[in-house]
Amino acid sequence: MSAIALEGIEKSFGATRVLGGVDLDIRAGEFLTLVGPSGCGKSTLLRILAGLEAPDRGRVLIGGAEVTGLRAAARNLAMVFQSYALYPHLTVAENMMTPLKLRDLPRAARLPVLGPLLARDRYRALRAEVDRTARILKIEPLLDRKPGQLSGGQRQRAALGRAMVRNPVAFLMDEPLSNLDAALRVHMRAELSELHRRLGTTFVYVTHDQAEALTMSDRMAVMQDGAILQTGAPEEVYADPDSLDVARFVGSPAINILPGRIDGTGGLGALGTALGRFRTTDAQKVAIGLRPEHLSLAPAGASGFEGAVRHRENLGADVFLHVDVEGIDRPVVLRTTPTETRDLAIGAAVGIDADARAALVFDETGRRLRFEAAELVRIA
Ligand SMILES: Nc1ncnc2c1ncn2[C@@H]1O[C@H](COP(=O)(O)OP(=O)(O)OP(=O)(O)O)[C@@H](O)[C@H]1O
Ligand SMILES: [Mg+2]
Repeated sequence: MSAIALEGIEKSFGATRVLGGVDLDIRAGEFLTLVGPSGCGKSTLLRILAGLEAPDRGRVLIGGAEVTGLRAAARNLAMVFQSYALYPHLTVAENMMTPLKLRDLPRAARLPVLGPLLARDRYRALRAEVDRTARILKIEPLLDRKPGQLSGGQRQRAALGRAMVRNPVAFLMDEPLSNLDAALRVHMRAELSELHRRLGTTFVYVTHDQAEALTMSDRMAVMQDGAILQTGAPEEVYADPDSLDVARFVGSPAINILPGRIDGTGGLGALGTALGRFRTTDAQKVAIGLRPEHLSLAPAGASGFEGAVRHRENLGADVFLHVDVEGIDRPVVLRTTPTETRDLAIGAAVGIDADARAALVFDETGRRLRFEAAELVRIA
């Protein structure tokens, strides 16, 4: 069942069209990531879903009911932003209570009023709710501290706690980890995944970081220029991209793109090397995508591709070898092992072997050309 549906969402700011008719179904309980380069419209789409921005056209449905005209507060969605927006003068517990108070107090009292001003048993009930959430997030020892006395990760958890106490239909998060240092970010990714599993609530998560999307999502929607290019499980989007843009955006180091062609007999080649054979005989220029793990080191002279080592990127378990190849603007990147490349000097001549069965082939417009695996037979 789809928990949330966006239908034909269009949005312009002045003359700039930011969203060009976006359709997206978000399933109940899934962790869905909106991912794409800066400025592609992710935050705008999330804000429209949240009710913080109105679309020019299109509909937003939650649990099958249209909410397009409803204000944010009436949608029961919890929003967690990049800046945690905690009240600095309130403790963590008081911060977490604020949304509950806002919900339950009459309009006249909707100020960051403190606990003591509330009736005592109402306060106790709220406090019990806060304690329960704090236990889940393991922030009980921090409840009496103020935001200024917390680390970035702790502040992040407090902000999450504040979102969680409301029991929302879904959590909407816009780059919530981008203010954290690299190590903490990796740690918080794991924590968010675990939290999602435990709560079973729908998460809609915005990031420009493809690694974050790959590690956390049940499904990711890859956006570019105000449109969703492809939606799918991370493994699927990585291994089976529909377009050159998606192939390029996902994966680090990025996929290698080689200029190639299919000749009149179905032969697929790049850089003067035969890579494989298609059952098609439509001659055309193509772009051939090969990920670093599908290229391997071969003795110089023994394979079709040759180049000179430009850089050895040592990541410990893997070494990504960047090789300058004539006829390609960017260095070709191969995944190798430290032992394989230990004695390779910069500038050394090396050969490159390609697993042609893993090659992704795109036509000149960047559209994926799909062929059955059996049709692409390695002939090298
Ligand atoms: N209120 C606004 N007024 C005018 N233009 C806006 C407004 N909000 C966003 N934009 C423009 O809309 C486009 C999309 O912005 P949006 O914030 O949705 O991008 P994003 O994908 O979230 O990018 P980032 O990864 O940098 O956060 C950008 O070109 C931005 O400048
Ligand atoms: Mg944004």
